[in-house]
Amino acid sequence: MKTTTEIIEKAAKSHNLEKKEVVALLQCDANETQKLFKAADTVRKNFVGDAVQLRGLIEFSNICRQNCLYCGLRRSNKTIERYRLTPVQIVEFAKNAAELGFKTIVLQSGEDAYFDTPTMTKIIKEIKALNVAITLSIGEKTLAQYQAYKKAGADRYLLRIETTDAALYEKMNPGMTLQNRIECLKNLQLAGFEVGTGSLVGLPGQSIESIACDILFFKQINADMIGIGPFIPNEDTPLWCAPDVETERNLELSLKMMAITRLMLPDINIPATTAMETIDPAGRMLALQSGANVVMPNVTQRQYKKQYALYPGKISISDDDSDTPENCRNSVIAKIKSIDRVVSTDFGFRGNNSPEFPHKN
Ligand code: 5AD
Ligand code: SF4
Repeated sequence: MKTTTEIIEKAAKSHNLEKKEVVALLQCDANETQKLFKAADTVRKNFVGDAVQLRGLIEFSNICRQNCLYCGLRRSNKTIERYRLTPVQIVEFAKNAAELGFKTIVLQSGEDAYFDTPTMTKIIKEIKALNVAITLSIGEKTLAQYQAYKKAGADRYLLRIETTDAALYEKMNPGMTLQNRIECLKNLQLAGFEVGTGSLVGLPGQSIESIACDILFFKQINADMIGIGPFIPNEDTPLWCAPDVETERNLELSLKMMAITRLMLPDINIPATTAMETIDPAGRMLALQSGANVVMPNVTQRQYKKQYALYPGKISISDDDSDTPENCRNSVIAKIKSIDRVVSTDFGFRGNNSPEFPHKN
């Protein structure tokens, strides 16, 4: 068996590891973890540069037909107040975001049937006219729906696999199957999207081996984006009192998983996720220095942000007027500059981050 240092060197050079090597990295000690983060930071710099991609996130509906055990938006949660922005409001938020300088708009929601294909495609077309890239994160749909969104002008799609452990997946996501989730990701690729996926880290019952399998899965499907977030228990869900959940450990493991993913898929887009910053105020900047190159500031108005409660303590939710999309953007830009990085001015597609647009068909 190679030493950890040898495994890191192998990954940085060949971008290929065996499962047992990934497991060894996930289990490495604090000293070796610093080496892993440094190697991921170097690979990030060499393959995608110092520019950080900013994506403006609009959370347009917290209504969801699914019942994922970990998530505050699950349909059985009667505690949260539900909201749904109108198509006019969504386009208005997108316009504001584009005016602030965002080159990508991310439209995220629960699986809300109100937004049928004609409604969604109309929204996409109107936002596309603002000369921005569009990312969707709206859940499991049919191939025909994915194709319709693509034709209307959407460029990218986020659908986390959450975990590749089929038994755990099906326990955590009642009524859903891992097989269908994988089918959806394949259909998204077929429809021509840049496809983002990713995992939740620290779910009760999730093993290190299964996290290693998640990373190999990302490599196998050649994902274009990977978002990794630590699991944070939500008191409105059945996992609130799950035993042995340590959010600090989940953050550390998420950062390691993210760094290994950068070594394995050197040219992809990797966000520093909100859940990371929720656990540690420095979480997102740590992530940007350990392999990440994307941040997704929220451009939804304050009253809605609060209600989009996937997990408690989501950052940048305050009770005063300072919490505007513009202030969120400026505070993220200041933090990016403080770690000697720059803000990207292009559309941030995988592979070339070309200023030509649209560059991908
Ligand atoms: N902790 C952390 N992340 C969560 N998500 C949902 N619930 C939680 C939670 N309790 C993540 C899921 C989903 C994304 C939109 O939010 O991974 O894909
Ligand atoms: Fe719905 Fe997504 Fe939450 Fe599951 S994780 S309940 S699909 S919003």
